[in-house]
Amino acid sequence: MSTGNALIAGGGTGLLGQALVHVMQKQGLNVLTPGRGELDLFDARQLENIIRKNNIDLVANAVAYTGVDQAEEEQEEAFRLNRDLPGVLGQVCRDNDVCLLHYSTDYVFDGKKSIPYSTDDQPRPLSVYGRSKLAGEELLLKNPWGRLLIIRSAWLFGPFKNNFVQKIIQMAQSGQPLNVVHDQVGSPPYTLDLARYSLELVRKQTSGLFHVVNKGQASWCELASESIMCTGLSSRLNPVSSEEFPRQAKRPPYSVLDTSKFSMVTGITVRSWVQALREYVFQLQD
Ligand SMILES: NC(=O)c1ccc[n+]([C@@H]2O[C@H](COP(=O)([O-])OP(=O)(O)OC[C@H]3O[C@@H](n4cnc5c(N)ncnc54)[C@H](OP(=O)(O)O)[C@@H]3O)[C@@H](O)[C@H]2O)c1
Repeated sequence: MSTGNALIAGGGTGLLGQALVHVMQKQGLNVLTPGRGELDLFDARQLENIIRKNNIDLVANAVAYTGVDQAEEEQEEAFRLNRDLPGVLGQVCRDNDVCLLHYSTDYVFDGKKSIPYSTDDQPRPLSVYGRSKLAGEELLLKNPWGRLLIIRSAWLFGPFKNNFVQKIIQMAQSGQPLNVVHDQVGSPPYTLDLARYSLELVRKQTSGLFHVVNKGQASWCELASESIMCTGLSSRLNPVSSEEFPRQAKRPPYSVLDTSKFSMVTGITVRSWVQALREYVFQLQD
């Protein structure tokens, strides 16, 4: 981050994009967030002009096709955003020696393991979304450069945009019955922690593929239960199986990510998801 000027692809409107803008600005970076109408991200020349004109040294790609079920029907659009776009961003960042912070997902794995997935584990996605995100990683890693960072993360929760935790709390507040899947286990990361940890990797001037999530694991049901507990509400939660709750896209039953490579490079031990969740929910209540 030598110039202190960063660009968030996607206008900083997504769940992670907004957290990145918030954390970067707090850390004193100048953040550019051109929206859809201002910059066509697929136009390499336009992107290059913006990067050069504004002396941008870091591009964070917070754009993605994130509709996991919808992607089964809209394969072409999912691949356009999750594979082709990182390809364009990668080419421009590589040519201009700019750092690219790109995000991927735990859904690149099939969930057959029962211990956390490391970055050396072989991905085997079960869904179009997972395959499109993996294709984006592969395209970038075909021509890597010293400033390419690919971060796989997982079940995001955090401020600025509705998310699983907020939905669960809203349902609990309205007294709606809560049926939540108990047989999918993953790593819930707090977007603000993920943004801070991402910037630590940038600062280390390292490159490559990393897993970054908060510490620990939970099923969706456990995450829901802990979220409600933090609010002090009492609500009946019914654990259901994935079979009872059929979705279009198949999800891995186990997708906990091992963050040891991140810790080794940065010297940081990620904090637990429960601690991060409490901070988030307590702030929601204010
Ligand atoms: N959410 C999760 O639980 C999760 C889990 C694992 C990994 N990830 C990864 O984390 C990253 C961030 O995810 P997120 O949850 O923050 O995503 P999100 O909230 O769904 O935001 C997606 C962003 O992409 C933009 N976008 C979508 N379609 C676009 C298009 N056609 N043209 C331009 N911009 C477009 C959106 O802009 P608009 O607001 O204008 O639509 C928005 O800024 C992604 O790479 C995702 O794969 C997320």
